[in-house]
Amino acid sequence: MQSTVIAPSILSADFARLGEEVDNVVAAGADWVHFDVMDNHYVPNLTIGPLVCEALRKHGVTAPIDVHLMVEPVDRIIPDFARAGATDISFHPEASRHVHRTIQLIRAQGCRAGLVLNPATPLDVLDYVLEDLDMVLLMSVNPGFGGQSFIDATLRKIEQVRARIDASGKAIRLEVDGGVKPDNIAAIAKAGADTFVAGSAIFGHADYRAVIAQMREAVSS
Ligand code: DX5
Ligand code: ZN
Repeated sequence: MQSTVIAPSILSADFARLGEEVDNVVAAGADWVHFDVMDNHYVPNLTIGPLVCEALRKHGVTAPIDVHLMVEPVDRIIPDFARAGATDISFHPEASRHVHRTIQLIRAQGCRAGLVLNPATPLDVLDYVLEDLDMVLLMSVNPGFGGQSFIDATLRKIEQVRARIDASGKAIRLEVDGGVKPDNIAAIAKAGADTFVAGSAIFGHADYRAVIAQMREAVSS
């Protein structure tokens, strides 16, 4: 099992003060910055691109930037994000014509590669690529918006992916994204996740440090 990572999703941050928001959440104990990229095509919402990632790096952000690509097609934008300072890049298999090639492309750019499974995506998409991945990202809501409720059937899926990662013997992270809160994070960790994305639960709270500490405590107890 990997160390615990808490990755606040900046989708719920105040975009008018993004640099300051990221500085504050990292100072409050965030391990990674989760960066949601939506294209109004693969998902019905439009967010931010490589320019914003680069701006955060220029602003002085040194924490890992965990880019979650909800864009289709996906390959063209990957080198741009690598150049912009992404450390981790995850994509949805439906958005890539050649999943294995996209994984290799991410790694060739010097980034860690993740594959994202929507709530209804079966696990067999992992069959021939799991060992090439650095991370599996399980969506616990349908992608496109922050602030949705955690879909409970995901817990069973986390257990199944945990078993597959353990059987592989590889250091592959299991990240869960969507509706993660202080009151359900312990169950998500118990099912086998080690990397936790939380947007509204962290940025919707007045005290980032307190909520991150509460989440970390719940995971470790
Ligand atoms: C949804 C995004 C999530 C989202 C999580 O498509 O991938 O990262 O911002 O937000 P919360 O934690 O509010 O569900
Ligand atoms: Zn995300």
